[in-house]
Amino acid sequence: MEICGSAYERQKVRNENDFYPTPHSIVKLLANYSEWESLYVWEPCAGDFRLVEALQTRDYKVIATDLDQGQDFFDFKEAPCPHLMTNPPFKMIRPFIDHAFAIGVERMVLVCPKRLWACKKGWEQFHRHRPARFINLNWREDYLGKGGSPDRALAISIWESPNASRCQYEVWSKPYE
Ligand SMILES: C[S@@+](CC[C@H](N)C(=O)[O-])C[C@H]1O[C@@H](n2cnc3c(N)ncnc32)[C@H](O)[C@@H]1O
Repeated sequence: MEICGSAYERQKVRNENDFYPTPHSIVKLLANYSEWESLYVWEPCAGDFRLVEALQTRDYKVIATDLDQGQDFFDFKEAPCPHLMTNPPFKMIRPFIDHAFAIGVERMVLVCPKRLWACKKGWEQFHRHRPARFINLNWREDYLGKGGSPDRALAISIWESPNASRCQYEVWSKPYE
């Protein structure tokens, strides 16, 4: 019974920390993103390491950290590497973006909600940290594990600098399995 209790507590903490693993189709897209000449990438919300492992198969050298391993992203005063790729906790995604650029991240790829920029706070942050590319996906995944037809769509924001002069809009299709 104690084991069940601790497993329950651990899952509860994980849910509180937005532990919703990235669908494999999107991990594949991110790992295939190979426009960075540097091979070093920081994955600061590594979760179950699925993106870390996918990046490693593409020969990236990955610095993997996570709150679950005792490394709070917001405690970093300096980025261990200027290139960051992750699916961050959505409930703190705006402070996440501001903090990343405040500690020296120069390029970043984030999985994000499809309406990240489409609200007042989004508009303000878009003018502060405009990504070079914003990508909608032409399919949805049940990343919350609710079952049935997924009602929320994910998107991807890509920064090549902390504030691009223009943002290119794209729609990507699902990669082949
Ligand atoms: C949506 S999950 C994504 C996990 C993983 N990146 C993936 O692609 O499957 C968010 C992750 O962020 C972690 N997390 C939440 N708050 C954090 C924080 N303040 N600092 C670092 N990691 C955090 C959680 O533990 C969880 O693993």
